Amino acid sequence: MNDLGSIPGGTLRLDTDEAGIERSAQVLRNGGLVAFPTETVYGLGADASDAAAVARIYAAKERPSFNPLIAHVPGLDAARREGVFDGIALRLAEAFWPGPLTLVVPVASGGTVSDLARAGLPSVALRVPTHPVALSLLRKVGRPVAAPSANRSGRVSPTRAEHVLADLDGRIAAILDGGSTSVGLESTVIACLDGGARLLRPGGVTREAVEVVLGLALDGAQETGETPIGPGLLASHYAPRAAVRLDASRVEPHEAVLLFGPVDPPGTETATARLNLSATGDLREAAAALFSALRRLDEAGTGTIAVAPVPQIGLGDAINDRLRRAAAPR
Ligand code: TXA
Ligand code: MG
Repeated sequence: MNDLGSIPGGTLRLDTDEAGIERSAQVLRNGGLVAFPTETVYGLGADASDAAAVARIYAAKERPSFNPLIAHVPGLDAARREGVFDGIALRLAEAFWPGPLTLVVPVASGGTVSDLARAGLPSVALRVPTHPVALSLLRKVGRPVAAPSANRSGRVSPTRAEHVLADLDGRIAAILDGGSTSVGLESTVIACLDGGARLLRPGGVTREAVEVVLGLALDGAQETGETPIGPGLLASHYAPRAAVRLDASRVEPHEAVLLFGPVDPPGTETATARLNLSATGDLREAAAALFSALRRLDEAGTGTIAVAPVPQIGLGDAINDRLRRAAAPR
């Protein structure tokens, strides 16, 4: 194994059967890096309790700084060994786990997540994914697995194994190929640190759904990235190579267009490339398609991607958050 935890000869592509998952668990227990599917995006996993393994994540992704990472565990019991859950955190965990929700809670005494994975903070981000391959892998590893999205730093998050390999082939030991992810956007991140609940990142669980469970309005303004509430929430984070122009009411010549809904803006006919996130205006379908669509339009080699408006309700909140980051100056 070299410094990046990869094996000479390149990245192993493993099936998501018993043997592939067992092999992946072994690599992780030995300090190597394995990309694996979750219901949100592919994660780049390392043993969260092993600082040297976590350091390989930053090296493989070429992350400029040590941002705190999400520690993935197979259930609430394992989560409670790592973090302290107050009443609100417990209610959220019971309502949304397993699923696309990450809870930031105070570190438990005896918690095993390394300082490096927490970026030295006294809190820890925990998530129980619902993807059966991820759950089975986490049970076999028997330790929390730190996993940011499995892309190079600043690139669009991967929703297919091919996206991961396009960014990280040869830089990681293995990838479990579980096909396309179903949610397509990262988890919602909520901090439960001081008796309240604060939205740090919109994601696969909607703000509305969280507010129904809590019976109160969630703290936390829309994260703009200008003054990050959570460390590592950079404005320009989900960046295709092309420039991105938001809320386009018409498409200019030489632009590619990312559409939403049944009505195309004027100029769509002459766009250099076009994709519709959901022709019926379904936000779930749009969320699942977003990152893949950005990659495909980018590959078409366009200079600018014009993006039609997406309504700011339900999953539209998280979709617009990612689109703003894709459009942010960099
Ligand atoms: O869906 C997801 O969440 C994916 C899959 C692989 O699980 N993972 C992911 O990880 O998106 P990453 O590293 O790209 O995002 C982690 C987010 C960052 O915004 C980070 O700032 C925040 O969680 N975070 C982690 N620990 C934190 C802490 N102690 N305090 C505040 N924010 C924290
Ligand atoms: Mg990411």
